[in-house]
Amino acid sequence: MGDRLYLKIPASTANLGVGFDSIGMALNKFLYLDVKVSESNVWTFNHIGPNVEGLPTDNSHYIYQVAQKVARKYNVRLPNLEIEMRSEIPLARGLGSSASALVGALYIANYFGDIELSKYELLQLATEFEGHPDNVAPTIYGGLVLGYYNPDTKVTNVSYIDTPKVDIIITIPSYELKTTDSRNALPDTFSHKKAVQNSAISNTMISALIQHNYELAGKMMEQDGFHEPYRQHLIPEFQSIKEIAKQYQAYATVISGAGPTVLNLIAPERSGELVRELKHEFESCRSELVTINESGVESKVLYQHL
Ligand code: HSE
Repeated sequence: MGDRLYLKIPASTANLGVGFDSIGMALNKFLYLDVKVSESNVWTFNHIGPNVEGLPTDNSHYIYQVAQKVARKYNVRLPNLEIEMRSEIPLARGLGSSASALVGALYIANYFGDIELSKYELLQLATEFEGHPDNVAPTIYGGLVLGYYNPDTKVTNVSYIDTPKVDIIITIPSYELKTTDSRNALPDTFSHKKAVQNSAISNTMISALIQHNYELAGKMMEQDGFHEPYRQHLIPEFQSIKEIAKQYQAYATVISGAGPTVLNLIAPERSGELVRELKHEFESCRSELVTINESGVESKVLYQHL
């Protein structure tokens, strides 16, 4: 097969406060993969640009590992591939970089293994790898997606709500925070009383988002008890960003995914002022406006021989 596969895979922000492991939103920052059959007898990776520097170039590459697992599952052989990778998504910052790579690997296996997986099946597979759908579902579908992965049946069900009409600011610290470290900060058990409280907060948050009542949605997001209270000490900037954002009437300030990126939801009239203030205050971080991605993964095949 002499074809070339181009993939443009969005970043994502998971949790939105109280939606721990189940809610996520795709963002317009991308991982770009340019994939073709290699002349060589091994897979090759060419990493271009700052966010992919230092990734392995041999078979320990995450994309190779995932693609081969999928090929084994469907009993197909993948040709040796040449993969060029560039990315606007910083690693280990809570913006879904590994979910984007995972989704890329699934699309690669699907195309070059000629498997014909549907989007539904791609989602099922992706969630099985990740254990929760909050990054992979919006990465595949775009927009704001809610989902539940049942580990017993291994089935993932998802539901969508309208993309919020808000502006998003992300403040990305210069340091990494590994998802495993951030998850290790969470308690092993949670009382029934706390579970009831937090599910009430989450239900109210979702209903408010559906009604485009961003003040109420934001108020609920900020009352998360599932993960933020246990993680904020890992992100020294978090409290100050929240305080400054309040002065600009931001709807909410939350940890993006497992952190350390901090995300604000704010009315479009006020986002410019806040992002400039955050840039000024947190010089060691990168504060930027980012828009919500509504289309999910884009894949394009360039046929070399028609
Ligand atoms: N929901 C996940 C977490 C996202 O917060 O740990 C990162 O995998």
